Amino acid sequence: MVYPLVAGFLSLSLLFSGSVGLTWQLKEGRKVGQTLCPSYPYPTVDPSTLLKVLGPFLEELGQNMSTLIKSTPGGAVVSVVYRDTVIWTHADGLINMSDPTRGPPTADTGFRIGSITKVFTALMSLMLRDSGELRSLDDNITAYLPQFSIKNPFQTRRGITFRQLSCHMSGLSRNPPCPGIFDTGCNLTDDQIYENLSKLKLMFPPGFQPEYSNLGFGLLGRVLQTIRGPPWEEQVAQMVLKPLNMTNSGNSFTPDAVKNMAVGYYPDKTIAKLIDIGWDAPAGQMYSSANDLSQLLKLIFRPEYPYDIDTEQILDGETIREWMQPAYTYADGTGFGHPWELWQLGDFILRTKAGVMNGYNAELQFAHEIKTGFVFLHSCDGCSSHEPIIELSQKIISTVSEILEILKPGPSVPPSPSDYTGNYSIGAQGPTVAVVELGTVYDRKALLLLDSSGERSILDWRGEDEFQISLHGGPQPCQHSQRGIRWRVGGIHKI
Ligand SMILES: *[C@@H]1O[C@H](CO)[C@@H](O)[C@H](O)[C@H]1NC(C)=O
Ligand SMILES: *[C@@H]1O[C@H](CO)[C@@H](O)[C@H](O)[C@H]1NC(C)=O
Ligand SMILES: *[C@@H]1O[C@H](CO)[C@@H](O)[C@H](O)[C@H]1NC(C)=O
Ligand SMILES: *[C@@H]1O[C@H](CO)[C@@H](O)[C@H](O)[C@H]1NC(C)=O
Ligand SMILES: *[C@@H]1O[C@H](CO)[C@@H](O)[C@H](O)[C@H]1NC(C)=O
Ligand SMILES: *[C@@H]1O[C@H](CO)[C@@H](O)[C@H](O)[C@H]1NC(C)=O
Ligand SMILES: *[C@@H]1O[C@H](CO)[C@@H](O)[C@H](O)[C@H]1NC(C)=O
Repeated sequence: MVYPLVAGFLSLSLLFSGSVGLTWQLKEGRKVGQTLCPSYPYPTVDPSTLLKVLGPFLEELGQNMSTLIKSTPGGAVVSVVYRDTVIWTHADGLINMSDPTRGPPTADTGFRIGSITKVFTALMSLMLRDSGELRSLDDNITAYLPQFSIKNPFQTRRGITFRQLSCHMSGLSRNPPCPGIFDTGCNLTDDQIYENLSKLKLMFPPGFQPEYSNLGFGLLGRVLQTIRGPPWEEQVAQMVLKPLNMTNSGNSFTPDAVKNMAVGYYPDKTIAKLIDIGWDAPAGQMYSSANDLSQLLKLIFRPEYPYDIDTEQILDGETIREWMQPAYTYADGTGFGHPWELWQLGDFILRTKAGVMNGYNAELQFAHEIKTGFVFLHSCDGCSSHEPIIELSQKIISTVSEILEILKPGPSVPPSPSDYTGNYSIGAQGPTVAVVELGTVYDRKALLLLDSSGERSILDWRGEDEFQISLHGGPQPCQHSQRGIRWRVGGIHKI
């Protein structure tokens, strides 16, 4: 089977005119991003229908995952979430290489998630703002944490805000002033950290440009904790982990937690130590499982309307929308959110957060527009790089978006398809340039258009004699491709 991995919904409309000889007039439609491309809100399908259609694709994905993971130490789990359902989970490798009888990890196995911890800290800032305990995300943090100071060589008047910290826009440098923090851990006292900080300088004026900052997230967590009092570690458990039933997530490596965790490795199979990053925990200390991170995705994907008042909700739909906003975008479409790392994926923004922590590599990626996301947890640090994982989630998200387009309700085959099947030529005597035939796409009857290069497109009936061509195999949804442009010829005749 050939998977139409990426949809190329060309904004070309095919207009049939007249009945004699069925002259086709192909006219170029609107360009990328305009109304003929899928636009928000996206069609939705039942998760089980989606799974049925995605089945063969996921099977191949699983085989590819197995190939990738079996060549590395440790184990990995991947889960795909659609709306409120984990539609697929796949695991490989070993939870503990010294004890192969324990087999591969599962969706409930704990893995360190490193910087994905930042998502939880950012979420807490939104929750405290919504509860009214934090007046505004645009408040100067100094009012909440008087012991914090840093040298500002830029003479700017306004202080660092909560929002800037959660979007890597504070101007703070990358790492906290705690020597060896990501090698051996950090056990400086808070006073020592603030004393060290007071001697440091900002790299940029606050709000000027993104600078990825583990220091900024340590600071955000520690400022937020002053609002209610107990340490950030305790508050994240109360505010987020408990209400979302994230039972296999936390910050401290108790014997029970360690028993449930995959052993973390380096590529040479040495075992990584479970170090404690202390004051900087809000930037990267957590461990979690594929099921638990899926809970977080479900929170993000939950329908905004109607509000389901029976379900325990920790965030308003309106706040979720705010949480998804980009904070800074570069010219190439990449950028930063709260604290999402943003990638342009056709019509979608791929929101991602990666986490690398001694012995572990974790990725959380999703397209909020179609409520489809992906969790990848690997108990090996330096064994799986970011790019292939981005590619995997792009494939999943593109495939889902295409399926949603195709499965969307509404007629797509005309009442008498045989009126349109047959061979077509340019001019009455010309050679065949296209064949229209009746076939099936994802179990559904569809009119298919085969061009002379053998490329197959779906003719989506739009009423009367009008069709939209949905190209298979284009580079990205809604992108014009050469294959489409070739159809901009004059009259085409049914032979
Ligand atoms: C699996 O790997 C093969 C070979 O690299 C690749 O051609 C194919 O697209 C991959 N399939 C999926 C679903 O990722
Ligand atoms: C891994 O397995 C070995 C051998 O059974 C055992 O000594 C070790 O404690 C295990 N590690 C963990 C974290 O369970
Ligand atoms: C806000 O930030 C500036 C610069 O850091 C600081 O000098 C000022 O005292 C802060 N204001 C309050 C109310 O904390
Ligand atoms: C921070 O403070 C500790 C102890 O107070 C000191 O050993 C360390 O070198 C300082 N680190 C930096 C980066 O200033
Ligand atoms: C933690 O602090 C103690 C005493 O201050 C020191 O001996 C030890 O090396 C520190 N550990 C780390 C991981 O920095
Ligand atoms: C909470 O999560 C655990 C482990 O994933 C699961 O067994 C349990 O059924 C969940 N409870 C609820 C109320 O969803
Ligand atoms: C239609 O086109 C196909 C492919 O070019 C060709 O094999 C077939 O003979 C044509 N049929 C007619 C009736 O022209």
